[in-house]
Amino acid sequence: MIYLDSNATSQVHPEVVEAMLPFLTGQWFNPSSGYRAAKEVRQAVATAREQVADLINARPDEIVFTGCGTESNNMTLKWLARWVGRKESKVVTTTIEHSAVLRPCEAMAEVGYEVHRCGVDREGRLRTDEFADLVDGSRPGFASVMWSNNETGVTNPVAEACRITKEAGWAFHTDAIQAVGKMPVDVREVPVDFLSLSGHKFHAPKGVGALYIRDGVRFEPMIRGGGQEDGRRSGTENVPFIIGLGKAAELMKGELERGGHADVKRRRDRLEERLVAEIEGVILNGSREHRSPNIIHASFENCEAAGLLILLDEAGVQCSAGSACMTGKQQPSHVQVAMGISPEQARSSLRISLSIFTTDDEVEEAATAIGKAVDKLRSVQGPPGVGPVVVYGG
Ligand SMILES: Cc1ncc(COP(=O)(O)O)c(C=O)c1O
Repeated sequence: MIYLDSNATSQVHPEVVEAMLPFLTGQWFNPSSGYRAAKEVRQAVATAREQVADLINARPDEIVFTGCGTESNNMTLKWLARWVGRKESKVVTTTIEHSAVLRPCEAMAEVGYEVHRCGVDREGRLRTDEFADLVDGSRPGFASVMWSNNETGVTNPVAEACRITKEAGWAFHTDAIQAVGKMPVDVREVPVDFLSLSGHKFHAPKGVGALYIRDGVRFEPMIRGGGQEDGRRSGTENVPFIIGLGKAAELMKGELERGGHADVKRRRDRLEERLVAEIEGVILNGSREHRSPNIIHASFENCEAAGLLILLDEAGVQCSAGSACMTGKQQPSHVQVAMGISPEQARSSLRISLSIFTTDDEVEEAATAIGKAVDKLRSVQGPPGVGPVVVYGG
């Protein structure tokens, strides 16, 4: 099996599992309890908070553990909506956000908020001129711009968007779920107010995330109860998963310090090079310069991605068409539509995402398997636009 779908979720790092296990077996105490054994658990949670803070150059007390990236996004956006109020306010986001930002923004629009979705250019990057026109300091408001896109890996000019937003006196949130752990993210360099991250995108398990809230920025919780997380997100802490998130953050920090996923990038480039050289009609989508080191987003002319995915799965290669959420649906993803990619090209595109566990041999095998799958599909498929005549068999 060759796993090339790490933007959907990543393999849990064995050292993360090892770090978590004691907190599922012997050290299962409630960190809020008073005895010594619980104090050790409390200490371990504090260490995890430091590890996560370190990864993005934050302070530990600026980190709130959450149940996932979706929750981090929702608790920020719902709070900001409440803070700015419906009357006279303006909300600015982008056309390429993940549904974990788009859906809460749609819910705001349904109850009367003025929500704007700023466009992107052909390369998939935020149009900063349009963004600057939308941000309007004469009214209360906030903006949410993702750091790196989950489908294309393209990174936005977040520093610029943050500067524009804050100059207008608005709050700025970024969904950095596909960026944290894969590229340098520094909240002192880019002074965002809120930043969402999610463990399962960088080798921690699914079901744990965090929200960075800049010190001094006003915040009221979505989940109230026992007052855990300094009252910002109540609920008994998911200790083993928080420990796992901390360990993964520490490992990724080391990885970034050792050269910023240079090996991942080298392997990604090698795979891309082979696809372009060996397969006719390959179009690489999105900015080549501003993108995550682990991802290829490519269209294969006259090849339905749905058919390619099945052939690749049979060959033991796992990847995605568009984003994981779009798999099985034949519509082009909203991200590709926003980039101006034609429906035909969009339907023939694959998202191939590597991780630190992808090997040189896997890259070579995957390149060969993708080439064969494309040949096979083209040989059984009708002319462009007709779609697959026979997809499987033989
Ligand atoms: C950019 C982005 N935002 C939000 C999410 C949701 O994160 P989670 O799965 O932790 O809820 C994802 C996951 O696919 C994502 O890629």
